[in-house]
Parts: sequence; structure tokens; C-alpha cells
Amino acid sequence: MSVHAGAQPYRPTAPDDDSRTGLKLFAIFLGLAVGVLIPVVIWMGASAQDARNDARHAAANGGSSAMATSMPGMDMSSAQGAVATPSFAGTAPTNADALATAHRAYPAELPAVAPGPVANVRLELTHRVISIAPGVRYEAWTFDGGAPGPVIHVRQGQLVRVTIKNDAPMPHSIDFHAARVAPNVAFADVMPGKSFSYSFRASDPGVFMYHCGTKPVLAHISNGMYGAIVVDPKDPSLLPPVHHAYVIVSGEWYLNAPGDKVPAALDMVKAREMTPDWVTWNGYAGQYVKHPFAAHPGHTTRFYVVDAGPSFDTDFHVVGTVLQRAWVNGDVVDPPQHGIQTATVPAGGSGIFDVTIAKPGLYPFVTHSFASVDMGAVGLLNVGDVAGTMSH
Ligand code: CU
Ligand code: CU
Repeated sequence: MSVHAGAQPYRPTAPDDDSRTGLKLFAIFLGLAVGVLIPVVIWMGASAQDARNDARHAAANGGSSAMATSMPGMDMSSAQGAVATPSFAGTAPTNADALATAHRAYPAELPAVAPGPVANVRLELTHRVISIAPGVRYEAWTFDGGAPGPVIHVRQGQLVRVTIKNDAPMPHSIDFHAARVAPNVAFADVMPGKSFSYSFRASDPGVFMYHCGTKPVLAHISNGMYGAIVVDPKDPSLLPPVHHAYVIVSGEWYLNAPGDKVPAALDMVKAREMTPDWVTWNGYAGQYVKHPFAAHPGHTTRFYVVDAGPSFDTDFHVVGTVLQRAWVNGDVVDPPQHGIQTATVPAGGSGIFDVTIAKPGLYPFVTHSFASVDMGAVGLLNVGDVAGTMSH
């Protein structure tokens, strides 16, 4: 990609980076006990196969044809049948800890803003196997090879010129929530091998989601086609400067297999039933526990939070402090709220949250909907470069 915003080109961790360290199975991640997990995972593998076979039989015997078009990266047996695979939450190899350490975290620091009157945003749309948790691979559909796509940072009033090149084997598109444009024109499907451009004026400050809007949108977002665009307000007093700024995008993953031996793909039934296997900040479970955000004591840290869903809300909370300023719904035109504990970020929405922490320590940031924490939506803010780790 080239987001002409001074953004560091982000090359996500290739799945090989993880497999290089080995792919031995079964241990603990986020507090799951080895003894419990081993039989469970074995059972899962067997049950998953059974479920797929059942679903195929159901489909062959006249299941729904609404999704009959074959799509790579989607488990059509589940899409056509009614049987979801069992949960693969918590799947982890014995060397999960080493893999988590070796993983190159998605760069969450807010990149520099695009200079000049026009921000050129170029994104290549590709299908690619990525890692979404230690030792767990997934056949993702991506903006620029990663999920989320790159963080885009522009100024209010700038013209954003978007160009997408579809290198994937199916139609895709791009929908910017920051844009006021006719969706049937700007967000139109782009055929494989084709490029498409449109422009919009960044007239509304805040942080917004972008995503593929091609049908079924549930599948395209579930497969990783989403990201964040930050629009700085013209009036800097609306969003005072801070010392540290990070962008996090929440997303759910719905797997048709554990993803440890061969890459998993989308289980559309799970996506419809809203039963994810993983919920991640910036696409990879728990990555900022191993690679925490940094802050200095007494300085202010800003979290730009986008909830890409496709279906869960985020209940944003920083353990050990209070949200000093909270632009709930990512609205920076109105004054922020102050001193709140938890703020909801709706699916397809955003929030901007400032914390000022005096005492050195490790401060987890979570969604206080703790099922999602258990599935990976947790990170750490390390205030004062202290040693050690923790999860919550
Ligand atoms: Cu798409
Ligand atoms: Cu949308």
C-alpha cells in the first residue's frame, strides 16, 4: 500500500513466522489448562469433521441455496447447512508463548498525518493466509495483506483520494464511514483484476471504520476486510494534543477449523449465530499483552477505538484507571465526557479515550464484555517501562 500519510508500510506477520518456531500442539493460552484442553481439542477436531460431513449431507439434500456461489475462504458446507462447527476458542500449541513473543505486532501507533491538500490512499485487495493467534492461521481477505488494513490518518477538509486494486479472485469494495458519498457509486463492487478510484472530502473529524461492503458483508468483514481512518479536526482545541496515541480495531473471527494444522476459513453459521472463536485487537489475539503499548507516568495516552464487528460491541475499559476524557461515539465536535469507567463502542462505530496515569505499572485495556477478553481482546499499557506481564 501507500497511504501517503507518513505511515510505516506495514507487513503483517507471515504465517511462516509462526510456523518457523514450530507447530506442536496443545497447551495453554489465556488461562486454559493443559489437562482440560488436550481432550477438548482432540474432540473438537473429530466433532468438526462430523459437523462438516453432516452439513454437506444436509446441503446435498436440498439445503438453502442462498449462498450457492462457491467462495474461496468460506466453508460452504456450513454456509449452506445449519450446523456450526464447535468452538475452537483457546486453541494453542505448546509453544504459544514463544510464538506470541516472536509475532510482529500490528503497529498501533497513530501514523503521521498525510501532508498537502490531497491524501492518496492506495490499497491492494488480496486473499492471504495470516496468523490471528499464536499458532492459528486463517484464510483472510485483506486490505493490503493484513487484517485490519492500514491505519489512515488525514485532516478535516482534506480530499481523500482512494484507489483500490482488486488482486483477489472475487469482487470486493471499500466503504468509508468518514465519507458522504453515494454508496451505489463509490462503494461499488470492483471485479477481480480491476482498479477503482473515488474521492471524498474528509468533512467530519473523528475516527471511522472502513470496510468491504460487498455482499454478504458479514462474510467480508468476518474475513478481515476492515480498518480505521482518523480525521484530525481543523480546530485543534477539539482534540487536544497528547503524548501517546494508539489505534485499535476490534474484530471477531469465526473459524471452521482450529487453524493449527491447516489454515481455518470462515464458518458462516457461527458468524450468523455470533459465536466467534477469537475476538482480537488489531487482528491477533492478545498481541499487546506480549508487546504492550508504552506510556510515561503522568502523560496522557489516547486510544482511538474502532469496533469493526461484524457483530459484537466493545465495552472499552482500562483496568486501574478511569477514562479521563471520552469522546463516546468518536464524536469530537461535541465536548468529551469525563471520568467514566467503561464506554460502549458499537459495531461499526468508534470512540476516542484519553487516560492520564501517574503510577508506573501494567494497565490492561479490555472490552468489559469478558467473553471477548477470554477470546483475545486484551492488551497492556505499560506505564513507566516496568518489567513483567499480566493479563486480566
Ligand atoms: Cu470484500
Ligand atoms: Cu459500514
